[in-house]
Amino acid sequence: MPLFAPTEENLRRAAQLLRAGELVAFPTETVYGLGANALDPDAVAKIYRAKGRPSQNPLIVHVPDKATAIETVVSEWTETADRLAEAFWPGGLTLVLPRQSEIPDIVTGGGNTVGVRVPAHPLAQRLLEWAGVPVAAPSANRSLSISPTLAEHVEQSLGEYAPFILNGGATPGGVESTVLLLTENPPRLLRPGLISPDEIEKIIGKIVRPSSEQEEKREVTQDVPLLSPGLLSRHYAPNATLTLAKEDGESEVGELQKRGERVGWLRMSSQGNEGGTGLRKEDASGNLIIISMPRDAVGYAARLFAALYELDAAGVTQIIVQKPPRGDHWLAIHDRLTRAATR
Ligand code: TXA
Ligand code: MG
Repeated sequence: MPLFAPTEENLRRAAQLLRAGELVAFPTETVYGLGANALDPDAVAKIYRAKGRPSQNPLIVHVPDKATAIETVVSEWTETADRLAEAFWPGGLTLVLPRQSEIPDIVTGGGNTVGVRVPAHPLAQRLLEWAGVPVAAPSANRSLSISPTLAEHVEQSLGEYAPFILNGGATPGGVESTVLLLTENPPRLLRPGLISPDEIEKIIGKIVRPSSEQEEKREVTQDVPLLSPGLLSRHYAPNATLTLAKEDGESEVGELQKRGERVGWLRMSSQGNEGGTGLRKEDASGNLIIISMPRDAVGYAARLFAALYELDAAGVTQIIVQKPPRGDHWLAIHDRLTRAATR
């Protein structure tokens, strides 16, 4: 199916498709989501088929506002949840709370909790209002591949499984929502994302962050954005191996070039936040593609997945990534890069 411009007519059609139990891909402020009516187990089953994802992996339920979350999704709303919702909704924070019995097992992976969020993107907002049902939506990519930040990448990743895709252009955030478990005290960070831990701690105090040991375990069990050959559909089959460089990556790139590999290099821009980012420069041999990345975490996150899709499309065999700075605002970026480098 082609991409659909976000006209009022197409939005109504998308809302109608969701109510009828069909899939719709739509932009959020984080990444594109692959949505289905969360109350309809047959509709949700189509998500798992399209993604090629194991169905014990729970999905995030999207609603237009806090009141709908309390009314239709969550069974025990807490004061902590309320303060977080007031501070970050609509936005890139997913809260994991006890579910209502109407939310089917296939959405929660059989568990008694549900992840819920209110997306801020205006198209997602209108779609959810008009659909009138809670919408379960993982990122709109084949399992184990990169989350799409452009409608074209949804199509590229899902291939023959691509549903009706609302084309809202590039998603501004570029990295998935932060997932926070609220059934424990203190709350536990399950996935770093768009909202950084220090922003959350300003509102509710200390939260538990994953130790590096837990992180390692999680890497083998979760839906990780891996550039992993053999696990991807034939429509999206990067051979690229991603390596996080010790420093700027120059020596790693040099080594690979000597071996005759076609290399993609994500380098921090030397020109500050504004100038020179996102440029693609090939060397004379055409075997090196350099993507210049913004030096600020927000800009870097917005650009990261699209850069990986681009390098993929350019047919590189190796991707070298200059090590980004550390710190809370870079946490989600380090997380995704580490996963992408895990084979
Ligand atoms: O930004 C996002 O979160 C995007 C957009 C579309 O909203 N969605 C997304 O969904 O990234 P997905 O399915 O790719 O990732 C959902 C994450 C997974 O790590 C999953 O394990 C966790 O949220 N999750 C969802 N429900 C959960 C639950 N009940 N308990 C624990 N973890 C949960
Ligand atoms: Mg995903």
